[in-house]
Amino acid sequence: MRAKGVQHQSWGPFAEGRNNLFADPVLSDIGAAHGKSVAQVVLRWLIQRDVVVIPKSVRPERMAENIDVFDFALTDDQLNRIAGMDAGSSLFFDHRDPAMVSMIGTRRIHD
Ligand SMILES: NC(=O)c1ccc[n+]([C@@H]2O[C@H](COP(=O)([O-])OP(=O)(O)OC[C@H]3O[C@@H](n4cnc5c(N)ncnc54)[C@H](OP(=O)(O)O)[C@@H]3O)[C@@H](O)[C@H]2O)c1
Repeated sequence: MRAKGVQHQSWGPFAEGRNNLFADPVLSDIGAAHGKSVAQVVLRWLIQRDVVVIPKSVRPERMAENIDVFDFALTDDQLNRIAGMDAGSSLFFDHRDPAMVSMIGTRRIHD
């Protein structure tokens, strides 16, 4: 994507809270080391890897929390620990399945 000048963007940076994300022990542990929440660790993880984030919250205190991520940095070890959590599959649908991608493209055109 970088070679093509395409900006990577996370739609749903918290995976909509799936997999009990906000109570994850690894992310909680890393957050505690910085005095930050799981949400802030997640946003930092994305931002430090040049992924644009669009976190959604209806609560003003969480909106403030979600913007307060520019005064700390995850270490290489912490980045590696988070990378190790990758289960190799999407929580939503398979973006590499041509049938699924084709169906979504068709739906968007008709919407
Ligand atoms: N995911 C998609 O496919 C998609 C597609 C098109 C557009 N978008 C847009 O992209 C944005 C992403 O939103 P999303 O809902 O898909 O997923 P998301 O941002 O991954 O997750 C939102 C969830 O996280 C909770 N949350 C937010 N900040 C939190 C915090 N600091 N601590 C604990 N919980 C927190 C929110 O609850 P509360 O609101 O109760 O705080 C909500 O349940 C939205 O603006 C959405 O409209 C998403």
